[in-house]
Amino acid sequence: MTGPRLSRRGFLAAGGAALLGAVVAGSSGLAAPGPETGLLTDFWLFGRYADGCADAAFDETDLDPVRLPHCVTPLSWTGWNPASWQDRWIYRKHFTASPAQRYRARFDGVLTNAAVYLNGTLLATHQGGYLPFEVELPGIADGDNVLAVVVDGRWALDVPPNLPGSAGPAVLDFYQPAGIYRPATIGAVPRIRVTDVFARPVDVLSPGRSLHLTCTLEAPVVGEVTASVRQAGRELARATAPIHGSTVEFDVHGLGDVRLWDVDDPALCDVVVTVRAGTAVLGGRTVRTGFREARFTPDGFFLNGRRLKLFGLNRHQWYPFAGGAMPDRVQRRDAEILRRELNCTMVRCSHYPQSSAFLDACDELGLLVWEEIPGWGHVGDAAWQRSNLQDVAGMVTRDRNHPSVVVWGTRVNEADGTTAMYAETGRLAKRLDPSRPTSGALASATGARYAGADVEILAYNDYTARRGAPFRLRPPRAGVPYLVTETIGTLAGARAYRRTDPPATRQLQAELHAKAHDLAAADDRYCGLLAWCAFDYPSGWQRSVGGSKYAGVSDIFRIAKPAAAVYASQGSPDVRAVVEPGFEWDFTAQPSGPGRGATIWSNCDRLAVFLDDRPVGEARSRRADFPHLPHPPFAVDLVVPRGQRPQLRIDGYAGGRLVVSRRFSGDRSRDVLACVPDDPELRADGGDATRVVVAATDRFGTIRAGTTGSVSLTLTGPGELIGDAVLDFGATGGAAAVWVRPFAGPPGTLVLTARHDVLGTATATITAGSGGTRS
Ligand code: GAL
Repeated sequence: MTGPRLSRRGFLAAGGAALLGAVVAGSSGLAAPGPETGLLTDFWLFGRYADGCADAAFDETDLDPVRLPHCVTPLSWTGWNPASWQDRWIYRKHFTASPAQRYRARFDGVLTNAAVYLNGTLLATHQGGYLPFEVELPGIADGDNVLAVVVDGRWALDVPPNLPGSAGPAVLDFYQPAGIYRPATIGAVPRIRVTDVFARPVDVLSPGRSLHLTCTLEAPVVGEVTASVRQAGRELARATAPIHGSTVEFDVHGLGDVRLWDVDDPALCDVVVTVRAGTAVLGGRTVRTGFREARFTPDGFFLNGRRLKLFGLNRHQWYPFAGGAMPDRVQRRDAEILRRELNCTMVRCSHYPQSSAFLDACDELGLLVWEEIPGWGHVGDAAWQRSNLQDVAGMVTRDRNHPSVVVWGTRVNEADGTTAMYAETGRLAKRLDPSRPTSGALASATGARYAGADVEILAYNDYTARRGAPFRLRPPRAGVPYLVTETIGTLAGARAYRRTDPPATRQLQAELHAKAHDLAAADDRYCGLLAWCAFDYPSGWQRSVGGSKYAGVSDIFRIAKPAAAVYASQGSPDVRAVVEPGFEWDFTAQPSGPGRGATIWSNCDRLAVFLDDRPVGEARSRRADFPHLPHPPFAVDLVVPRGQRPQLRIDGYAGGRLVVSRRFSGDRSRDVLACVPDDPELRADGGDATRVVVAATDRFGTIRAGTTGSVSLTLTGPGELIGDAVLDFGATGGAAAVWVRPFAGPPGTLVLTARHDVLGTATATITAGSGGTRS
């Protein structure tokens, strides 16, 4: 990672010993943000572990100022080296707070183990990188306090998914760079802390539906608890129950008017819980939920009683340059890409619980979620398996109020384990949440043991169609709800699908994804299919190339490949009319054009094709190849006399109306450089960031994958560049992205300038202030 670094002097001038009162109020990273939270981003000191580094008086001269979320090592977009993060590290945060108050710190995710010290005293340790933990902070001093976190990122840790004693991180199909990589907060604790509220909708499809509440307080009280259920700013119902102790369960009735949560109308409810003794309010907590009924049956999946073919992808959480350490807005953007751009109705969080911001966005966008415990392919020793149970408990209690989550993956992905072990993880999930099925993705769908009590959905990673063989799926297993949780990846077809690979390879990936969803759509017994995968990711395992897996329908920058067009074209043309050629309109590698039967992915009824505005006829539907896809692609013959480079125009019609017209230039001399931010406005709170796509495009905006040369980037203004200062288009295929992150502070303007020797200069302007919409 390059870009402006915070100097030690700048850090001190900016108020290194940040007052707690000055931290930004309200963390979007907490499951239930309360008034007691303060997001910690700026002004941590960071370095390699040294003896005494957690002591109050440790000499910090050699530590570097950093911001959270943070990754311990600089990374590029590929070629990650696990040796660079496999070590112990120290983070130190100075703060002042009132000794009269009680405080807690919360960490949403630290890879992989953490030991937390306050003023040199060890307070807590935590194992595992994918779930939150909280630490009570007793003994706050008057004046300066230092919270020190020793982070252990070594593979040798006996915690899922690591496997000490194995050959190393490349035995798993994803790398896990260390760091405090999710939000962290310190907050004053209210007098009565409501530690948990589980709001479980009951009888959702009946007008007599209710909400079953389980409220847990930290300490016993005598008083009453009120729950108010609100939707779109209006109270729908409320109920009050007496409490004599630290837990209370009660039901809220009168919810006949509630708008159900659905993939196309993700109506949410707030449940505002208040604890009172007499007229005095002792504490409270607000959680969000949604009323929906999700049923996996041997005859398919039903949402609110309506059959829904689950259409989706797997998502890994890794980003270029930052590892997992991207702020909430960036996490949310992945959910937007999946739901809005790729029309997915479901995502599998492979292979660990993902950020709360991502799941919040799934709730808001109507994207169903499969969530699973950390692990991949192997099971460790007894201590490791005990961690599985902690992970089940941590995952279910963190996420059981999310209406988007419809399955708990309580088995380790593709790992046999023992029947007893999985019976226990399944039982634990059921005890903590009786409303959702448990499952686990299997590498074999045939063993009798897989019909066990822990598997309410038979979920199969279907790689039946290996390289070269015609694509097929295993038939569903009779009598059990059946879901395809993975397919294709890099096991079907080619070893890598990059923009630098030949167009035919990229088109092959698109054909495979289309075929897989077509086959799943053909048979009602498939609940659906979640293909492998959404985004490329760093990995040193089988069929990786230079430390990356190129299995995504989008690359690691989240830029679409042709296979993404399969997904983009399955939505309604009324929402977004899509015309996306599966080929390139570029005569460098193909002097006669893409040839006969070139594919165009589209949701239009009819496509009219023109060369230099002269009609060349209508594209032919490929319905016969994909009988069950809502919107099969088209084929068109595009053979161009050598030496000519006509302009291509494709007009798309739906319902007899022209709904989209796109042009593609064959003339590379008019190509330009694009530099486009996802968000033009951000918050200057240190916890916000946005992606900027930098791409070579034809003059109509289509990426020119064959572009080479490097792009240099400079950022001016109060913020930092999360990205390489030089991008090699020859390696990324003419397009890449960086992220821009404003500093916490006064409003300002950030300008990213990109320069390419041939294509010239392009800029992106981002304003940072208080105005940016909350991500
Ligand atoms: C599966 C595995 C995935 C991914 C995929 C590779 O076996 O569950 O995590 O590694 O293979 O295409």
